Amino acid sequence: MSREPRTAAEKEILELRQQIEKHNFQYHVLDDPLISDADYDRLFRRLADLEKAHPELSSPDSPTQKVGAPPLDKFTTVQHTLPMLSLNNATDPEEMAEFEARIQRFLRSSEPIEYVVEPKIDGVAVELLYVDGRFTVGSTRGDGIHGEDITLNLKTIRSIPLILHAGKRDLPQRLEVRGEVFLSRRAFQLMNREREEEGEPVFANPRNAAAGSLKQLDSTITAKRALDIFCHGSGMITGVQFATHREFLDAMKDWGLKPVPFTKICRSLEEIFAYQSEVETRRDELPYEIDGLVVKVNSTELQRRLGEIARSPRWAIAYKFKARQATTRILDIQPQVGRTGTLTPVASLEPVPIGGVTVKSASLHNMDEIERKDIRIGDTVVVERAGDVIPYVVQVLPDKRTGEERRFIMPDHCPVCGASVYREEGEAAYRCIGISCPAKLKESLKFFGSRGAMDIEGLGEKLIDQLVERGLVKDLADLYKVKKADLSNLERMAEKSAQNLLNALERSKEATLPRGLTALGIRHVGEATAKLLAEHFGDLATIMEASEEQLTEVREIGPQVAKSIAQFFAQRENREVIEKLLKAGVRFKPEPKKAGALAGSIFVLTGGLESMSRVEAQRRIEALGGRVASNVSRNTSHVVAGADPGSKLKKAQELGLRILSEEELKKMLEG
Ligand code: IVH
Repeated sequence: MSREPRTAAEKEILELRQQIEKHNFQYHVLDDPLISDADYDRLFRRLADLEKAHPELSSPDSPTQKVGAPPLDKFTTVQHTLPMLSLNNATDPEEMAEFEARIQRFLRSSEPIEYVVEPKIDGVAVELLYVDGRFTVGSTRGDGIHGEDITLNLKTIRSIPLILHAGKRDLPQRLEVRGEVFLSRRAFQLMNREREEEGEPVFANPRNAAAGSLKQLDSTITAKRALDIFCHGSGMITGVQFATHREFLDAMKDWGLKPVPFTKICRSLEEIFAYQSEVETRRDELPYEIDGLVVKVNSTELQRRLGEIARSPRWAIAYKFKARQATTRILDIQPQVGRTGTLTPVASLEPVPIGGVTVKSASLHNMDEIERKDIRIGDTVVVERAGDVIPYVVQVLPDKRTGEERRFIMPDHCPVCGASVYREEGEAAYRCIGISCPAKLKESLKFFGSRGAMDIEGLGEKLIDQLVERGLVKDLADLYKVKKADLSNLERMAEKSAQNLLNALERSKEATLPRGLTALGIRHVGEATAKLLAEHFGDLATIMEASEEQLTEVREIGPQVAKSIAQFFAQRENREVIEKLLKAGVRFKPEPKKAGALAGSIFVLTGGLESMSRVEAQRRIEALGGRVASNVSRNTSHVVAGADPGSKLKKAQELGLRILSEEELKKMLEG
């Protein structure tokens, strides 16, 4: 919008859009938020209200468009200006050496070549078209020539800017960016857990989940999936040229796009091999899946001269990691009972090493999945293990069948408590109806004590098994009745660990309202929803009394979630457990308003802390109104250096930032 705003409302709308865009970039691209979630929400809500009041001022580029648009009947086809090519693969150093030799042969030169080496993101390839800095069309790769127009879905992804940042660098008139849309492993697990409980088919891996989310005709569904993007290439660009690929990656960042991280310039094969082994060993530390490296010639002039062959560029290659699949046999299939009573069939496998870990079991998710893949006991199967995702069966090898295989039949009684098992119309999940099923209780306890909930350190699976089996704990609140003498009688429970657990239980009583709500294990209420509920209603008693209608007034809570919450609090047993928790001293205390002693301060933690975990440090900083970011930047107020601090400390020193010892942090937290 180049003309001057005409009214005060228009001026405010334009300013809000700019501010929100800036905070989206800080948060989703730089991972370095400048304001609290609550302050962000306030800006967002103000903008949405103003746009509603002044529909003539609404705009397809507004950040409010990130919540999705009315559903489409079908996707239209778009033609890529330049074909989206694929990559040749190398799987070992010899093939990499051949790649380099081929390039040198082609260029008739034996000069060393400079490469940019990048992680190969295991996601879904997309193209984004920006015209004069505005996101105009987004498409899938399709067959490389034609893709599907998924603009509305891509618009919902927070790390895709609707308007590029001008200012730092000239904007091309036309910019076609290519990248990989992906889902973090954690987002994938949460999504699948929810789907499993709902009896919906689960996705096999984060890539399929990302692909499924992008194929939604209803973009409001896509908006709810925590999709993200890394940009790694270009189609046609007009008006701006780059001498190197690395320069293009830097330009993308200046424009507000999110370039692929951990890129490295390598000047020899040896450097590439060293980087490959470094990245492969640290692969599981990344929160998303990568399946190798992409090695690209850095110079765009050389890229142009090398050109392409058979739909792949001559100047790039995918250097794949070892596959994390293996073939093994299913020895048995047993149902496992979850927190909500869902019976999940789990295969025990002939143990097989996959990527350094011995895999002994795999989740089969549900009956539909078993039938779809025709999985039988005794089958030889291909199993995949990706990061910390539960191993799963990719496919059966029917040629290996001997005729001895047996089909798995879901029992009609719960294998743990003997109560009936039922399957609701249209659901894939079978559930145990037993109200006091110990398997359900054990899972609820595990969830109650987990990190995002009450964070009770030491409340592990073995201990929970014993507490439940000995009848010491019959519901969540009984945990707080456990005495030291009870614990000392348990297996593998030394005096010290017993005391530690009691201390952890005592500490957990101080858990905030959102954590307490999460811990109750209400269907559909995860950490994010619990936070929204706490912010909206303020305290537990008000939430417990809220009607379904009042619950739907909370931003982002729909009728299904509202119903589930209201039903939960309507149950006498649940109210009794809450009553008992309160009596035991659990406080469900409302989160302090963010104007605490550390309001506005941004901390970065590096190195190990001794007196508290990182999670605890973060929580305490946030409780005082501060924020914790993962990267050091000029906006960082304090860098806390623990034992063996990493490169963040160096960067902080270079920027001349305030560096705190653990002791100093503790003093600050204690006020
Ligand atoms: S560059 C000519 N860089 O892998 C193709 N691709 O198997 C240039 N991919 O189609 C692609 N991470 O969708 C490139 N850092 C990265 C990548 C990457 C993932 C995907 C891309 C490509 C596929 C080839």
